Amino acid sequence: MTAASSSHLSPGTLLRERVTQGLGLPLVLAPMFLVTSVDMVLASMASGAVAAMPTLNARSPEIWDEWAGTIAATHAKLGGAVPWAANLVVHGSNPRLAADLAVCVKHKVPWVITALGNPRAVVETVHGYGGLVFADVNTPILARKAASYGVDGLVLICSGAGGHTGPMTPAAFVAAVREFFDGPIIVGGGLVDGNGIRAVQAMGADLAYMGTRFIATQESAAVEACKRMVVDSDFADIICTNAFTGAWANKLRPSLVAAGLDPDKLVARDRFDLNRPEEEVKAWKDLWSAGHGVGSVHAIESVAEVVRTLRQEYAQCLARLDQDPWMARWRASEGARYTAQAPHP
Ligand SMILES: Cc1cc2nc3c(=O)[nH]c(=O)nc-3n(C[C@H](O)[C@H](O)[C@H](O)COP(=O)(O)O)c2cc1C
Repeated sequence: MTAASSSHLSPGTLLRERVTQGLGLPLVLAPMFLVTSVDMVLASMASGAVAAMPTLNARSPEIWDEWAGTIAATHAKLGGAVPWAANLVVHGSNPRLAADLAVCVKHKVPWVITALGNPRAVVETVHGYGGLVFADVNTPILARKAASYGVDGLVLICSGAGGHTGPMTPAAFVAAVREFFDGPIIVGGGLVDGNGIRAVQAMGADLAYMGTRFIATQESAAVEACKRMVVDSDFADIICTNAFTGAWANKLRPSLVAAGLDPDKLVARDRFDLNRPEEEVKAWKDLWSAGHGVGSVHAIESVAEVVRTLRQEYAQCLARLDQDPWMARWRASEGARYTAQAPHP
């Protein structure tokens, strides 16, 4: 788009264009604690999808520094067309926030996705080196707050998401946020195929956020038994509980059973707290997360294979909406009444 033709567009709209430009698919591989690996991020980038790395997957800021250096070098080698992201827990209980943020500055990590708290603490710093800040939020109230702190984009976590989830359906959440925010919107929660990617665009968002679909990839750092469980599970195996951190999260029931817990007798916690005794946190490593879309994962594949499948599904979805004989028939009769110019019937 030329400067002349884009001059009438709002800064938010221009940013929406910027964050989706050059991608092979409007997709972000969502950050996953103990699952996202450096290899996953590199494979995603090579496949044309943005990927986000939780900085806490590295056991120390020094290791995070090494990882960020490796990813940044590949990003540069690939020409920088596909950005990558760091996922920073901005909750007050994260003692590594300052050190991990300094690594983001050092390597000029293109996007920073904040989670579990107020993004205000990182906005100025990330903007200082030209990076973009996306805040992960799960209600319109939190979205409005994050927008008021000057974040560039919002990640709307909707019901059905693996790990910490949200209470709202995507369509209602995007509609509510679009009333006050015209910048980039990423939507996550139960998205597993190319149709879902197209659907979030139709809702008015820009990018799909997928975690569960990528747990069982070859490059994932999840243990083999977890990958198997994801492949073997479906929606009936998902439990939504606030028993572990106090925030609602979707978990794999069989992993709770294997860890000796009774999924039907969990004790609710009403206060969010990441600071738990060491033994308890260690035990959480065996309590695996996945979202409503888990039943759509049927094999352990490479990241490239999954992205390729998603691209095919996305292309087929576009074609179906455009060329499918049934859709064409519908458009010729009923659909004609719905063109933008048509008067209300
Ligand atoms: C195993 C697992 C670990 C997760 N860890 C994180 C994390 O460290 N930080 C974060 O912001 N979100 C985390 N999430 C949430 C995802 O980033 C994302 O919101 C979610 O996967 C999207 O829903 P989906 O799983 O249905 O695709 C995790 C999700 C899963 C499944």
